[in-house]
Amino acid sequence: MKLQPAAHIRGEVTVPGDKSISHRAVMFGAISDGRTEIQNFLEGADCLSTISCFRSMGIEIEKKQNQILVHGKGLRGLTAPSGILDCGNSGTTTRLISGILSPQPFTSTLTGDDSIKKRPMNRIIEPLTMMGADIKSLNGNGCAPLQICGRPLHGIHYHSKVASAQVKSAILLAGLYAEGETRVTEPKLSRNHTELMLKRFGADVRTEGTTAVIRPAGHLTGTNILVPGDISSAVYFVAAALILPNSEVLIKNVGINPTRAGLLTVCKNMGAQISLVNESHEGSEPTADLLVHSSNLKGTVIEGDLIPAMIDELPTVALMACFAEGTTVIRDAAELKVKESNRIAIMVENLSAMGADIVETEDGMIIHGGKPLHGAVIDSHKDHRIAMTFAVAALAAGGETEILDADCVSISYPRFYDELNRLTR
Ligand code: S3P
Repeated sequence: MKLQPAAHIRGEVTVPGDKSISHRAVMFGAISDGRTEIQNFLEGADCLSTISCFRSMGIEIEKKQNQILVHGKGLRGLTAPSGILDCGNSGTTTRLISGILSPQPFTSTLTGDDSIKKRPMNRIIEPLTMMGADIKSLNGNGCAPLQICGRPLHGIHYHSKVASAQVKSAILLAGLYAEGETRVTEPKLSRNHTELMLKRFGADVRTEGTTAVIRPAGHLTGTNILVPGDISSAVYFVAAALILPNSEVLIKNVGINPTRAGLLTVCKNMGAQISLVNESHEGSEPTADLLVHSSNLKGTVIEGDLIPAMIDELPTVALMACFAEGTTVIRDAAELKVKESNRIAIMVENLSAMGADIVETEDGMIIHGGKPLHGAVIDSHKDHRIAMTFAVAALAAGGETEILDADCVSISYPRFYDELNRLTR
């Protein structure tokens, strides 16, 4: 994909449904009694992996344009998969499904693409094993493929070393089937979509600070889920509007759950002109339209509790920091190294190739803003968020930028380049 600089970005855009919430709606619908109707479902490759896994365990799932209908079969209604479950590029599918599969009365095997086969799974293997699960990494390297021989589970109180919603959710889902209460305490609060949505399906789940508590469920009941727009897809238009001159973008219906919306705090700290309009609270998740104008950004420090609330937006914020006055420090973000790619190393490599003043640290990056960027050849490493971040960088750089493996954006935002073109034309 070859991209040219753009003078500005202007107009209105509706980003696709939230990826985390779309996955969960299919999974929880599948193990509930009756129908679950999902509006504004994200038809990206990751969420389609979740659908195909549940189809191969006997769940009927219908697609109607932007709507998905899941015919749930209840907590004990899944059947042994017809083959190896392919989670594709999706960490959320792999880790959350493991929590559901551990207590089933059958054996299953999970695998995925080259990236998934390198991502750490001990973080779920350890707590699920403590609950009585029989789950192992078939290559013995703590990664997929995973084999799970279903067994009865018991509740535990798990103290997680990482703030990870995937780890927390895997344990809570296993806890639905376990004997007794299950508790997960995190070092910092991660996104709480599982807790909010499971409650909607009728589960007995509650939160005490950074601890989530679940009691086993007799059954869950199918419901209707309206998926808000994904703030992790909105961030590309936010960044483009902030760094390009004479820009104004209205991003409609974006999920602003506080455990996800650290981006808004950081933008404010950087002096960005963003306002929230049409705030609403349909369903369990708050939403708003984001109105963004070109801004004179200043450097900031991003650390601590903010990190899990914006983990997927950090690469794009690193780009914004290149256009800010002064220095931006991102720390406490070592988790970035174990995403779809090592997002610290790859942001530093690619932004450096474009002329940015950026250094890698143990757990983040330091960016000295103000050096103009120039076009370059960017290796996305097939990481959708890297490809989209550099498509935005290309708009604000001098000369042409080429992005390798640019089609990986289909993981979370299949129409991304069309929308970016439309707004910058
Ligand atoms: C997700 C949680 C986060 C996030 C990922 C989606 C989820 O991962 O980076 O894109 O849907 O629960 P971790 O749980 O590894 O932090």
